[in-house]
Amino acid sequence: MEVRNLSHRYETSDRPLVVLDGLSFSIPPGGYVALTGASGAGKSTLLSILGGLEPPQSGHVHVGGHDLHALGGDELAAYRRSTVGFVFQHFGLLDTLTASENVEVALALAGARAGARRRRARELLAAVGLADRAAHRPGALSGGERQRVAIARALANRSRLVLADEPTGNLDERAATQVLDLLEQLPAERGCTFVVVTHDRTVAGRAPSRLHLAEGRFSTP
Ligand SMILES: Nc1ncnc2c1ncn2[C@@H]1O[C@H](COP(=O)(O)OP(=O)(O)OP(=O)(O)O)[C@@H](O)[C@H]1O
Ligand SMILES: [Mg+2]
Repeated sequence: MEVRNLSHRYETSDRPLVVLDGLSFSIPPGGYVALTGASGAGKSTLLSILGGLEPPQSGHVHVGGHDLHALGGDELAAYRRSTVGFVFQHFGLLDTLTASENVEVALALAGARAGARRRRARELLAAVGLADRAAHRPGALSGGERQRVAIARALANRSRLVLADEPTGNLDERAATQVLDLLEQLPAERGCTFVVVTHDRTVAGRAPSRLHLAEGRFSTP
């Protein structure tokens, strides 16, 4: 991942809000980075740009050979499907689907067959400690359980880039440790690049490198 001079502003009714102000950084394949910063600092905004959810407004954003600036809507969708596993801050689960089906949707979009999808979903839900909740819909799961379904879904396709926005924000210490152990296997075993946004010092402390966002730039915390 190679980012040069990335800026992002939101147009609001009074004046434009500059959230990212000329960021430059790179993360090697297999890199594991914790992204910290105050609430409102722009962490989720940066993650959405890296994950192809929000097109970059300026600068140069290259991820795994894709120039995100040059991709149109359909190509960005293909980039998200092929390259990115995203754990949303607010989970983004589909309310009418069970936990298992929420994980399976990601696999279906990538072309996996029904039997393989069910097996993989079962394996991932077990890995996040939810083997016995596979048939629950999000409304019948606790906040931390929903969060773990979102993590299972992000891991479903063995994406080369996993972006996790506060993946342990709703978890107790034991569940958080279990989830981090799982997420940390990605860079270690598969050479996957992993960026985790967190307000939790313990979580940030586990990452070998850290970026701290303040006033649109990286600084020392
Ligand atoms: N669509 C939008 N339009 C206008 N302003 C926005 C929009 N989305 C986010 N913002 C503003 O941009 C800033 C950065 O938002 P962002 O969600 O990236 O912060 P964050 O660092 O993820 O915060 P938190 O830790 O609370 O999740 C915030 O001040 C927010 O109010
Ligand atoms: Mg956020």
